[in-house]
Amino acid sequence: MNYRHSFHAGNFADVFKHIFITRILLYLCLKETPFRVIDTHAGEGFYDLNCEEANRTSEWRQGIGRLSDFKDIDKSLFSLIQHYLLCVGIDEKNQSLDHYPGSPMIASRLMRRQDRAIYCELHPEASSQLRRRFAHDRRIKTFQIDGYIGLGAFIPPKERRGLVLIDPPFEQKDEITTLLSSFLLAYRKWPTGVYVIWYPIKTPDFDRKLRAEFFNNNISRTLRLSMNIGGQADGLKNTGLLIVNPPFTLEDEARALLPSLTRLLAQGEDASYQIDWVVREGVIEG
Ligand SMILES: C[S@@+](CC[C@H](N)C(=O)[O-])C[C@H]1O[C@@H](n2cnc3c(N)ncnc32)[C@H](O)[C@@H]1O
Repeated sequence: MNYRHSFHAGNFADVFKHIFITRILLYLCLKETPFRVIDTHAGEGFYDLNCEEANRTSEWRQGIGRLSDFKDIDKSLFSLIQHYLLCVGIDEKNQSLDHYPGSPMIASRLMRRQDRAIYCELHPEASSQLRRRFAHDRRIKTFQIDGYIGLGAFIPPKERRGLVLIDPPFEQKDEITTLLSSFLLAYRKWPTGVYVIWYPIKTPDFDRKLRAEFFNNNISRTLRLSMNIGGQADGLKNTGLLIVNPPFTLEDEARALLPSLTRLLAQGEDASYQIDWVVREGVIEG
């Protein structure tokens, strides 16, 4: 396990993923009844943007760094990302950024007293930082286990409402096979949960394979969102989210925010985004 998220925290892929996670959690908060968050690959939870790893890549400067000044953000985008910016700690008065919250911290900042979360992280160091970070939050349990084992063990949650984030580092060659088989087992046990699967789009083949698997497995409503920042630089440019059982409002929100968010994060003229349904109301989209 070589991957450390501290090299990448706050980059464009984090911003893209965390904005949609925030929208989903805000939707879950509309009802008083409790929900559960299960984060299978949680990371450390909170990242120092001045640490050596972050300095070495500076990826965050082209991600959250571009959202740190409100005057660069147009009004319609702002209304949809203001809660996310608050979770990150950016407000009108304090626009200097020195830390970035990971998905566990963002979720904990939006959860209410009645909500619960389970965070799994396998890397010993990341996991002990995660444990320390949330040791005093009684709503949250952290586990140093394989996230796919956690997925099998913790689903379905007793609340029967909630969000599962599956966000592996894609270090393993067969990651997608493991991810899909674990997801399908979880989905069969809990078909009404909201599942968010993050993935890098490295080749069109990979994207097609993932979508084909969803087609073939009778998954219900699945929205796919992707963002390609374009440009010449090497490294990750194109990422996607598969969102199973998305809130009914999410497609419209994505249509409202992705054009300006993509412009804001673009590295080249060829930046683009996509919004499409893999499966819509049980009907497979061709
Ligand atoms: C992309 S990062 C997670 C980022 C986090 N979800 C966020 O959005 O802030 C992936 C994490 O998965 C951890 N990891 C790798 N393999 C794992 C496994 N099999 N089970 C649980 N965690 C794993 C890595 O150590 C890394 O911290």
